[in-house]
Amino acid sequence: MAKKYRIAWLQGDGIGKDVMEAAKIVLDRVQLDAEYIPGDIGWEFWRREGDAFPQRTIELLKSVDAAMFGAITSKPVKAAEKELDLKLQGKGLVYRSPIVRMRQLFDLYVCLRPCKAYPHNPLNFKENIDLVMFRENTEDLYAGVEFNTVPDKLRDTLIELSPPFKAFKSLKSDEYAISCKINTKKGSERIIRAAFEFARKFKRKKVTVIHKANVVRATDGLFLETAKAVAKDFPEIAMDDANIDAIMMWLLKNPLNYDVLVAPNLYGDIASDLCAQMVGGLGFGCSGNIGKGLAVFEPTHGSAPKYAGLYKVNPIATILAAKMMLDWLGEVKPAQAIEAAVAAVVREGKARTYDMGGTTTTLEMARAIADKC
Ligand code: NAI
Ligand code: MG
Repeated sequence: MAKKYRIAWLQGDGIGKDVMEAAKIVLDRVQLDAEYIPGDIGWEFWRREGDAFPQRTIELLKSVDAAMFGAITSKPVKAAEKELDLKLQGKGLVYRSPIVRMRQLFDLYVCLRPCKAYPHNPLNFKENIDLVMFRENTEDLYAGVEFNTVPDKLRDTLIELSPPFKAFKSLKSDEYAISCKINTKKGSERIIRAAFEFARKFKRKKVTVIHKANVVRATDGLFLETAKAVAKDFPEIAMDDANIDAIMMWLLKNPLNYDVLVAPNLYGDIASDLCAQMVGGLGFGCSGNIGKGLAVFEPTHGSAPKYAGLYKVNPIATILAAKMMLDWLGEVKPAQAIEAAVAAVVREGKARTYDMGGTTTTLEMARAIADKC
């Protein structure tokens, strides 16, 4: 009989494999009626095929209800080219992060990152932290419009259009590089609206808009102005804003003063790791990449190559990502069961992975959580 859900299962590289195996133990325990379909993604496919996100995986994602993703290894363009199979070298293949491509291709514009301190976690920076980050996921400095070697035509246009650019006039084309920060009104508005709608739905009190509009005036100015306009539709929710540098300090100083946060892509990426660290570190940072038709859930962390295959790292981030997937699918009861089990295991303190000061392995932690589901 056909299962209720088709879930793409993208393990990726390094500890992506370890933590996904752990998450599967928990999903099996809550008996989600799903077929899990493995998909190829990551470094080995770049090396062998020159594509870390092969077309067959793109097709798979078009056919599923949701996806779980572990992590991938990314390297700078030149280092990546050197690792290509010899027969692919010199063909002009350019490495791009598959997760960034996936977010753009499927328009997964919301990156939702809850950061909640589960009581008695020895790693909590403070008890009661309960922050929710909304990171714009498709544009900004991650738009992918970059020039390692700047074409003369682009240089000449920039000199013509932008007086400060004259400072770079004397440089040769390979002596500088350009990465474009591109933010649209539509892209800003939909992530900001998503943050406010979440705040309304879950009776949150405040949305804080992160930017650097005093210096990065064009793009961050647009983001901030858009936020002020959107906020008018949500009079019951307070809005404030802060520069990315200042909020790094304020979040550490007074994390309980913050509630829902919304940021353009890069600042959201940076602030999410800080928020994750305040509630236990990357081993607790879970994430959903959410679009209109598809959502892909993953831990915030990367492939941590030095721990790959050791079954040492903390799977809770990925288990909580699976919980987010269940919420998104409308499977609220098993989602609640998983979160309650995580909270109970953390509270008891018997199972602790190395990052929590213990010796529990990745899969033992998953089984401890599954046993409480
Ligand atoms: P990372 O997140 O992989 O690891 C940094 C450190 O965080 C680790 O060395 C470890 O000490 C700790 N850590 C990470 N996950 C943990 C867990 N589950 N339990 C306990 N401790 C954990 O970041 P790093 O080292 O900067 O990047 C490694 C690779 O991952 C790079 O190739 C990078 O490009 C890639 N990356 C991929 C991401 C993704 O797939 N979404 C996100 C971030 C990085
Ligand atoms: Mg990150």
